Amino acid sequence: MIRAVITGSGSALPANCVTNADLAERVDTSDEWIVERTGIRQRYIAAEGETTSTLATQAARRAIEDAGVDAAEIGLIVLATATPDHTFPATATQVQNALGCNGCVAFDVQAVCSGFLYALGTAESLLRTGMAKKALVIGAETFSRILDWEDRTTCVLFGDGAGAVVLEARDVAEDGPGILSTKLHADGAHCDLLYVDGGPSTTGEVGKLRMKGREVFRHAVVNLADVLREVLVDAGAQAADIDWVVPHQANARILDATARKLDLPAEKVVVTVDQHANTSAASVPLAFDVARRDGRIKEGDLVMFEAMGGGFTWGASLARM
Ligand code: UT7
Repeated sequence: MIRAVITGSGSALPANCVTNADLAERVDTSDEWIVERTGIRQRYIAAEGETTSTLATQAARRAIEDAGVDAAEIGLIVLATATPDHTFPATATQVQNALGCNGCVAFDVQAVCSGFLYALGTAESLLRTGMAKKALVIGAETFSRILDWEDRTTCVLFGDGAGAVVLEARDVAEDGPGILSTKLHADGAHCDLLYVDGGPSTTGEVGKLRMKGREVFRHAVVNLADVLREVLVDAGAQAADIDWVVPHQANARILDATARKLDLPAEKVVVTVDQHANTSAASVPLAFDVARRDGRIKEGDLVMFEAMGGGFTWGASLARM
């Protein structure tokens, strides 16, 4: 059977690391509050000239190198971002040009923090139809550019970064590697709980991120547990079969609560929120790359990806490495 197999990963972070103590000099907050409520200790913030496309290109180059493929072999680029370099063209086309694989299919996907899951699901479907043989799936963000740095309830939570994977269509055995099941959802009724108060068709300005955090938290725990169960049923797997969960890194307490709901031991959950904060669409591939490179995620492992974000959007995907 033809499956989309993850054959490489890469990530990129800006050079500038900002600690909670640094933020406490700008807004009325403290390291103690941020760590206790979120688990975040630091985040990376893009400097002038560092953009979503430059971070995405760096991550993509590392993923291509890791997979041992040539950029010219890439037939599809799906890039998830809510902070594109420009309203258009798609950031994916800028990454394509920087990599030198011009001519292949390249477009952006916008599902905020669930963006990587949406991009993965889209790329996997297109690979299975035969549209391309090798794809780059990227999550990249510069949320620092849409934060209200006067609003302590949001500005301490986010960071910038990028992560990428190479997906290849392969003919594999039933118990072989590849993406086994992906489930995606959206519910536009909650768009006022997490949104940006601007845009090209409304104010004409980029706008700033606004969030009712406590309500988002409540929805996140319920929706994530539901979609994880849905994917497990579809793949014919049990929670106990999972080797690693690579969740969207919004808040350590959401990770704990979701793992508890599924009876998953905390040691199986990859946590990078302490180091990177919430990097929206970049957080899942960033965490995945960290855990692959440090040797935790190995060939043959069963890995669950999951995310929830503005829209609301949410989703999960189960893959055998
Ligand atoms: O990535 C997309 C999905 N996003 C998420 O999943 C985010 C989900 N939500 C959360 O992670 C949490 O709700 C937050 C971390 C955003 C907030 O934590 P919380 O425990 O829900 O706190 P809260 O909003 O209920 O605020 C508690 C108190 C408030 O003070 P009062 O009204 O009780 O006096 C806030 O004003 O904490 C105050 N507060 C802060 N204090 C110090 C809010 N932000 C800060 C801050 N520093 N940065």
